Amino acid sequence: MKIPAFQIALAGLSMAAVLAVGWQVHAEATRVTFPQLDKLVHYTTVRRGNVMEHIMTTPEAIQAIKDRQPVPAGTHFVLVDHRDGKLFRYFVMEKGQGWGADYDERRRTGDWQFQWFWPDKTINNAENTARCQSCHSSQSGAEYLFTGSRIPRFNGTPIE
Ligand code: HEC
Repeated sequence: MKIPAFQIALAGLSMAAVLAVGWQVHAEATRVTFPQLDKLVHYTTVRRGNVMEHIMTTPEAIQAIKDRQPVPAGTHFVLVDHRDGKLFRYFVMEKGQGWGADYDERRRTGDWQFQWFWPDKTINNAENTARCQSCHSSQSGAEYLFTGSRIPRFNGTPIE
């Protein structure tokens, strides 16, 4: 049987589409895992209009920051983002031994990687986590954290 040229072209096109989608998903996968939230401590709340963010991390990271030590590998920081009182998404940062080596120098944020999870804990594959890194890189002198500087004042009640 002879296969018309346009059919071959079509098959080629759909393969290209599959590859493109595959690449996008791959580009967004990072090493970040969804944390065990009940092991984390809510240390600060950020409110902005209809947005309320509960920011949390491990007791070990809180102690390390109070002691002016580096945050240990294996640490999660989570920003639980609520809109109009309802859970909207989770922003997660996780530090792992040597994880920075996954990225070139310009993108690298120490050994931290980033991920966006929906309320059902699936990953938002439409987001490129390079954007997270780009903004958080301004905090390179503070473990890439924006609210880490609040932790020394934290004594059990989330800082507003
Ligand atoms: C345009 C800048 C910007 C971008 C992009 C951004 N962040 Fe942030 N992030 C912030 C700021 C500022 C805070 C402090 C809380 C606040 O003011 O809302 C923060 C806080 C956080 C925190 C709590 C720990 C900390 O740094 O205080 C996590 C976790 C976090 N972001 C993860 C992410 C993830 C994941 C992404 C990408 C999906 C992302 N961020 C994209 C600016 C940014």
